[in-house]
Amino acid sequence: MFSREKIEYKSNDQIRAMRKAGLVVADIHTALKEGARVGMTTKDLDDIAAGVLADHGAKSNFLGYYGYPGNICVSVNEEIVHGIPGDRVIGPEDIVSCDCGAVVDGWHGDACVTLVMPEASEEVRELSRRTETAMWTGIAALATAKRIGEVGAAIEAYVDTLDNPPGIVEEYVGHGIGSAMHQPPDVVNYRPANLGAKIKPGLVVCVEPMLTVGSPANTTLADDWTVVTIDGSPACHWEHEVAVHKRGIWVLTAPDGGAAGLAPFGVTPVPLD
Ligand code: MF3
Ligand code: CO
Repeated sequence: MFSREKIEYKSNDQIRAMRKAGLVVADIHTALKEGARVGMTTKDLDDIAAGVLADHGAKSNFLGYYGYPGNICVSVNEEIVHGIPGDRVIGPEDIVSCDCGAVVDGWHGDACVTLVMPEASEEVRELSRRTETAMWTGIAALATAKRIGEVGAAIEAYVDTLDNPPGIVEEYVGHGIGSAMHQPPDVVNYRPANLGAKIKPGLVVCVEPMLTVGSPANTTLADDWTVVTIDGSPACHWEHEVAVHKRGIWVLTAPDGGAAGLAPFGVTPVPLD
């Protein structure tokens, strides 16, 4: 959808500025991981995020985006993405994807963490592990890729190796990010027919696979936001924001720059700080 538009390549100083927003998002993730409890509502999680944003003097980039009413998106079980925080109560077996964003000095951050509640099934735990691994697989591919479509190709190739492979949601994709939350290029989660834009230093993208236990076929609820699986099977979303610069890649929304997540792939991120 963005292919005709220009990519915003960032200078190293602009990437450093984006890191500030990325670390606010990382702080929100930490607060959610520590604070989320069975019995809370999804709105309670939104309030936790709002508190962290306020502590940093940062704003949510989701709030008001095409009229979106939350600070974050909270998508539970069969909800894939864009769940609106509200009175849904988190149960002991739930899988809860928390997509969070922040804007600092005009630069946007965006990343999603999934929380698995204490009594969740092994199937659901495996879905979260697989989706997180799919994300790191795509990010690792960025370290050597020549074209952006290699990210999705790597994600699909990973999913193809799995027993009972999960579904890959194709309608929602990663994206460039910078002075706006959604920029070109699209970063799909499957092998695209056309590998797309060349990867050049200064590219900053969000890698955000969404996988499902059952069919990835989906529909949007009457609230015009919440995307759910049609078969009701659980879904999961993980996302990080990654800068490509002259000396390597740097995961801006991971406190360690992506070191732990990339280590199994033999990739060492190169922080610019
Ligand atoms: N991280 C989400 C995405 O890239 C951002 C959702 S913005 C919202 O799609 F306004 F839809 F919440
Ligand atoms: Co995103």
